[in-house]
Amino acid sequence: MVQIKACLFDLDGVIVDTAKYHYIAWKELANELGFDFTEEDNERLKGVSRMRSLDILLEIGNKTLTEEEKLQYAEKKNTNYVSYIKKMQEDEILPGVKKFLTDLRNNGIKIALGSASKNAPLILNQIGLTSYFDEIVDGNSVSNAKPDPEVFTKGASLLGVEPKDCVVFEDAVAGIEAAIAGGMYSIGVGDAETLSEANFVIKGFEEMTIDRLQF
Ligand code: BG6
Ligand code: MG
Repeated sequence: MVQIKACLFDLDGVIVDTAKYHYIAWKELANELGFDFTEEDNERLKGVSRMRSLDILLEIGNKTLTEEEKLQYAEKKNTNYVSYIKKMQEDEILPGVKKFLTDLRNNGIKIALGSASKNAPLILNQIGLTSYFDEIVDGNSVSNAKPDPEVFTKGASLLGVEPKDCVVFEDAVAGIEAAIAGGMYSIGVGDAETLSEANFVIKGFEEMTIDRLQF
């Protein structure tokens, strides 16, 4: 049996529900470009990098932009998104997360963030969780997006823990695939059917205890 030495957390959809702010900001951009963008469409953007998200959005709206225009629109969406996350507060941390992070610390289990978002440091700061993380790996520090394992293998190596002693918490299929590709255990957060590749799935952190970190 393996006793886990480190936990790596995705941010969006695991620690906070920022998908709603991404959705509003992408929808406003789509409307400006003359088409609609539904909540169902938004599911396709979970765990996906900012530029890849824009490509999917443009595919939905059947629009073609130059590379320069794409950069401008991605920047515009981000400025709008940041205006929402700057209003975030501690009460937006998803239920059970803070208690579980505290339990990990009290049990000597290391903690890292592994997020695709370039806004991860800002979000952690807004919700007052920065100090809970031993290491932070985000969209600014990796060159390969999930399902590439880089964001998690980099986190494990910064923590000085071998991948086989790590578990990843993820709400996106690409994130579970990244954990598997990195040789780590994974716990899905969300829908059991969607995240069936994970070792097991929880609906939220109220269900999660240290005893369950045994594989
Ligand atoms: C991921 C989100 O965590 O970060 C995606 O699930 C998002 O929806 C991606 O596109 C990049 O985020 P940001 O903040 O760098 O635009
Ligand atoms: Mg996520």
